[in-house]
Amino acid sequence: MGQDGPQRVAVVTGAASGFGKAIARRFAADGYWVGLLDRNGEAAEAALAELGGPQHGAVLVADVSDEAQMEAAFQVVASRWGRLDVLVNNAAVPQRPTPIEALSSAEWDRIMAVNVKGVFLGMKMAVPLMQANGGGSIINIASVAAIRPRPGLNAYCASKAAVIGLTKAVALELAAAGIRVNCIAPGPADTPMLPGFMADPGSESGRQAFIASVPLGRLIRPEEIAAAAAYLASDEAAAVIGAVISVDGGRHV
Ligand SMILES: NC(=O)c1ccc[n+]([C@@H]2O[C@H](COP(=O)([O-])OP(=O)(O)OC[C@H]3O[C@@H](n4cnc5c(N)ncnc54)[C@H](O)[C@@H]3O)[C@@H](O)[C@H]2O)c1
Repeated sequence: MGQDGPQRVAVVTGAASGFGKAIARRFAADGYWVGLLDRNGEAAEAALAELGGPQHGAVLVADVSDEAQMEAAFQVVASRWGRLDVLVNNAAVPQRPTPIEALSSAEWDRIMAVNVKGVFLGMKMAVPLMQANGGGSIINIASVAAIRPRPGLNAYCASKAAVIGLTKAVALELAAAGIRVNCIAPGPADTPMLPGFMADPGSESGRQAFIASVPLGRLIRPEEIAAAAAYLASDEAAAVIGAVISVDGGRHV
């Protein structure tokens, strides 16, 4: 990022854990002010302390599926920093493998509310701030599950496919305004979310099955997702619009 321009600002949702924490750390190291948005304020404060403390950013406590809470969080960004350059819509919830006929409507709604409506609300709140800046970069975290599903993860796979569709539609809407919208589709990774996808959470056999599904032969590291986010946020990616970047050790192939 340029040394001479105004300080750049990035908001990362789900920044208290896993990929979001690594992405927030990477943006702070790259010189951004970072809004660590998460519903878990205590864990987000710990993540902020880990990346260097309040001179690098602030915690924004909000549930991404709640419009009023999201509006309030982005108002804090506007009043505190007066601009927004990058939004990473990363917060999501996993799904325990469930046959479609056994899936409750409540579970379907819960997954869609966080994983899809949360991405919609993030973009809805961020776009006016980016328009006021004359541009920006929105990075939505999808999943290889949208491209190469696993049986039983029906609602989760559908939610991530929706993120890809939403990304492409909004990328076209905003391209002329200089706001680039792209996706990262990670593969299975070593984060607290992974056991949430297992029939027997936390079992070694469940973990080994995920590792065996990755041609690279290991789980994806949060820093590898952060590196892709740093690229998509940068001017190096000026012509990258509506893309789905797989960072999955070859799992999608
Ligand atoms: N871990 C994987 O194997 C994997 C693979 C592909 C894609 N992904 C995707 O990557 C992203 C990050 O996953 P992770 O593995 O780092 O997960 P994680 O569970 O480690 O972290 C998720 C964070 O999101 C927050 N969060 C959850 N619901 C929220 C809500 N309603 N409002 C605000 N914050 C909320 C949690 O508090 C947590 O801090 C997700 O979009 C996930 O679907 C993960």
